[in-house]
Amino acid sequence: MFKVNLKSGQSFQSDSAINLVEAGKQQGIIIPHSCMSGRCNSCKIRVLKGTSTRTSSELNLSKEEIKNGYILACCRTATSDLDLECEDLSEFKLEEPKILPVKFIEVIKNTEDISTFLIQHSPLSNFQFLPGQYINLSYRGVTRSYSIANYNPETKIIELIIKNYSKGEMSQLLFKHDLEGKLATLNGPLGTSFLRNPNRNKKLILIATGTGIAPIKAIVQERNVVKEMGFEEITVFWGMRKIQDLFWKPKGQTIKFKTILSREYRKEYVQNSKEFLSLDLNNTSIYACGSSEMISSLSNVLKNRSFDMANLITDEFIKS
Ligand SMILES: Cc1cc2nc3c(=O)[nH]c(=O)nc-3n(C[C@H](O)[C@H](O)[C@H](O)COP(=O)(O)OP(=O)(O)OC[C@H]3O[C@@H](n4cnc5c(N)ncnc54)[C@H](O)[C@@H]3O)c2cc1C
Ligand code: FES
Repeated sequence: MFKVNLKSGQSFQSDSAINLVEAGKQQGIIIPHSCMSGRCNSCKIRVLKGTSTRTSSELNLSKEEIKNGYILACCRTATSDLDLECEDLSEFKLEEPKILPVKFIEVIKNTEDISTFLIQHSPLSNFQFLPGQYINLSYRGVTRSYSIANYNPETKIIELIIKNYSKGEMSQLLFKHDLEGKLATLNGPLGTSFLRNPNRNKKLILIATGTGIAPIKAIVQERNVVKEMGFEEITVFWGMRKIQDLFWKPKGQTIKFKTILSREYRKEYVQNSKEFLSLDLNNTSIYACGSSEMISSLSNVLKNRSFDMANLITDEFIKS
């Protein structure tokens, strides 16, 4: 057994049988994570002291990150005592993921290729989540991840906002058939892409492309929680293609809402748009959700502006 120390002062025991994320979790210590398969980089942490061994491929770590001591905690086990630099999410009450049967209740078409899917679990089961978390939905042998856009604990209905990919396996199953009353299975809630404000910033910018608006919808519905975190000014940026794609807007006047369209006259991408680039990012937390391309481009924009990356939370829709 080795001792793993986090900068927060917390520590846990680890051996060669189990990866660092799981080892921490079993002892009540939460290291940020999502895919648990070396693809999303949510669990990227820096080793300050000690050694670890790779148990599966760290697919998206750059050579520079490896040189600078970064590892993916879901792909590593300890081979000595370790000192790690990483966010410690242990103060958050994460619900244990459950596997629940669900029924498709309704499908609502939002745009040409995006629909809202309402699924319902049994009234006898309990489901809780932190806005920003996702579920794995399994239907007819295919499993895909979807962010929770809303959950009603009274009706037990979960809302998902899903894009139809023309050659997508799950897309074929969800968009080509009448789903009402059909049964599926969910596994969740999963991941740690929920909103937090460890540096007590005053401004919050939520950025989405496409269906990346789903967890942001869940977050802004919890406006009191967002305020309790210390945020006083909230701005949502949503990148879509065309005006007719804009099927949602936040309710009320207290949230600034900016839409950036990539296929209308200005042809802008949200992270490179004039409106975003002109913002003063001091005292600001950013939550970004959507395609890997947007997240990677946004990260570069922010690094070039010397933004403190500890104030960036990402929820990346990596391809299956
Ligand atoms: C944590 C997480 C949360 C997610 N939340 C949502 C959500 O709320 N709503 C939603 O619509 N999707 C979400 N996704 C993506 C989703 O899980 C699937 O990847 C997507 O629905 C495609 O599945 P598919 O079976 O139809 O296509 P697949 O059979 O998996 O892929 C077929 C082809 O479609 C294209 N494609 C597939 N996925 C993507 C992608 N993400 N970006 C760009 N091109 C792609 C590629 O060309 C690919 O080769 C999420 C992914 C993750 C990891
Ligand atoms: S890379 Fe480790 S959780 Fe995704």
